[in-house]
Amino acid sequence: MNKHQETYMTIEELGASCPDYHPTFDFSTTYIDSSHEFFANCPVKNGTLIQVKNSGWRLRKFIPGWLHRADALKLYELAYFVRGDILELGSYRGLSTTILAEAAQHSPSPKHIYSVDMSLKCVKRTRSNLRRKGLQQGVTTICDEGTNAVRNFKAEGRQFEFAFIDHSHAYDPVYSVCRELDTVMQPGGFCLFHDFNDPRNRESDNRDYGVYQAVTEGLDPAKFEFYGIYGCTALYRVL
Ligand SMILES: C[S@@+](CC[C@H](N)C(=O)[O-])C[C@H]1O[C@@H](n2cnc3c(N)ncnc32)[C@H](O)[C@@H]1O
Repeated sequence: MNKHQETYMTIEELGASCPDYHPTFDFSTTYIDSSHEFFANCPVKNGTLIQVKNSGWRLRKFIPGWLHRADALKLYELAYFVRGDILELGSYRGLSTTILAEAAQHSPSPKHIYSVDMSLKCVKRTRSNLRRKGLQQGVTTICDEGTNAVRNFKAEGRQFEFAFIDHSHAYDPVYSVCRELDTVMQPGGFCLFHDFNDPRNRESDNRDYGVYQAVTEGLDPAKFEFYGIYGCTALYRVL
């Protein structure tokens, strides 16, 4: 397993760079498979955000979303290699969900994805985009608030090996998830936080952004270890 601790950023450094993708798991090829490689070469919008074609003539040409190449490559890698189930908080139109589902389908380890969004419209769009790509099997979509969903999973005794947290940019909803996450994560599992490396987290008067502070203050250092920054995501591992 590869840690990239040198990529850690202080709050003043956020957004100054967008670290490239580097593998966490050990594999001998540059990319895991052709689907993983796709995210290294697919078109980008505004110089950074990946564009993934939607299926179906009535829909937008690309699935809307805000993933950098490095974010997408890391999502695919973790979803492919983990052996346990996957939790996603915040699906929007399902761009990240389709990446997780494709990696899970190609993975030698069977696993299930639980994707949560508090907007029913987003849940429906995610479901429909998964279906159009033939990726709906193995994904349960849930309409719920993030922390509430984590509490419900805990009550059900559900455990995850990978969690992608991309539901809110604001401090409170991310902080409350961080305080509860360990209750649903397997030891050795991974948590990937989107929008951690975003300069808007530095703006003290911006109440909409506080992911960096919520993660660094919310995760108990006795339970989580920093593993690296890739694109705008930060990876932590459960001890
Ligand atoms: C940035 S978008 C997710 C993008 C998606 N992960 C992707 O990469 O395509 C955030 C989503 O989280 C949902 N959301 C915002 N706050 C939430 C909360 N507290 N609980 C659950 N979902 C939330 C929004 O409805 C929105 O669809």
